[in-house]
Amino acid sequence: MRVRLSRLLIFTSRNGQLVCDDPVNHRQFALRPAVWDLLPHYTVWAQPREADSHVVKQLLESGLLIEEGSPEHRREDELGPWRTWGTAATYFHLATRTHDSERFVTAAEDTARLREKGEQEPQPEPFKRYGTEPVTLPAPDPLPMELTQALRRRRTTRRFAARQPVGLRQLSTMLHWAGGVQHRVDLPGFGVSLLKASPSGGSRHPIEIYPVIRSVENVRPGLYHYAPDVHGLEPLREEPLSDEEVLHWCGDQSFVARAPVLFLYTAVLERSAWKYPMGRTYRAIFAELGHVSQTTYLAGTALELGVFFTAALRDETVERDLGVHWNTEIPLGVSGFGAPDGEEAERQAAMLDGGTAGFSYPRDAWDGLG
Ligand SMILES: Cc1cc2nc3c(=O)[nH]c(=O)nc-3n(C[C@H](O)[C@H](O)[C@H](O)COP(=O)(O)O)c2cc1C
Repeated sequence: MRVRLSRLLIFTSRNGQLVCDDPVNHRQFALRPAVWDLLPHYTVWAQPREADSHVVKQLLESGLLIEEGSPEHRREDELGPWRTWGTAATYFHLATRTHDSERFVTAAEDTARLREKGEQEPQPEPFKRYGTEPVTLPAPDPLPMELTQALRRRRTTRRFAARQPVGLRQLSTMLHWAGGVQHRVDLPGFGVSLLKASPSGGSRHPIEIYPVIRSVENVRPGLYHYAPDVHGLEPLREEPLSDEEVLHWCGDQSFVARAPVLFLYTAVLERSAWKYPMGRTYRAIFAELGHVSQTTYLAGTALELGVFFTAALRDETVERDLGVHWNTEIPLGVSGFGAPDGEEAERQAAMLDGGTAGFSYPRDAWDGLG
């Protein structure tokens, strides 16, 4: 029999102790110093040494060691995509993967818990404000397209008409649907909850929108923060962002620099964490981003704008440029939109009528493909 350390375990230190974290079984346990010394020997398949036999038996029972050829060994060999996604992603998934025995709180328990919590720690503000004088936006327009048609027409657009700015009312309408407040509900004992066009876990609405204005009628190019409470744009940087800057943000994808408007999405973590103090909430935040992005896509489609979404971001650069820190607010992704380039609009229309299906790419990407 040969044994080795399970590769699904994480070792960490806490209060002078070496702690083993087993994400599969959601267990953590401190290791006795006597065990520390023998761990290096079992980082590769090895016959249990005579002197270790008693401890090895215990470590096999606890799952710290696995036996060659065992079901546990097979499970570690058959990791699938997790192997390439790496230890951190595998660990996060397993640590936040719910078990059969998971106990979910009832609505009544949750209400009682939140009331108690609210007395000690009021819920975080639902709005972030920078305090700069907001540029007020005109009232949004109704969306002039039926949902069936908008859903059929929604396509990713990466080719935009040069020199065709987005209208101010279009920008206002896009922001209204992407992040605007549709209703406010005052729940006694909890404060205000917001209701928006996109759903949000616990109605916490952690997502903020930072519009990058590159070409919009009557709005100075620059970086803004959308303030949904007043439906206005707080200027953060009233000078144009260069092509290089936005390309660097978005993984050097050339089409990003051609969009007249970018919506950079972040999440203010404490809004969600106040109600959901568990790691699984991180997954929900990205689910929320998907909802907001789709609302942006559909609103843009209804306004006959071309829209894209990208999750390819240089987080560190974005954080620095926005002045946010990952321990409180994290960049999530970017939507871009503008009038589509004529050929691209025709191509998409032809696709609807049964024409050849394809994807929108900027011409230089095709050229690059030779
Ligand atoms: C989570 C997510 C990330 C995406 N990231 C990118 C990206 O980085 N670059 C890009 O060109 N398109 C990106 N897209 C758009 C997809 O490529 C696009 O949806 C797909 O090609 C299907 O085309 P359609 O949107 O027209 O149906 C992303 C879409 C999603 C949902």
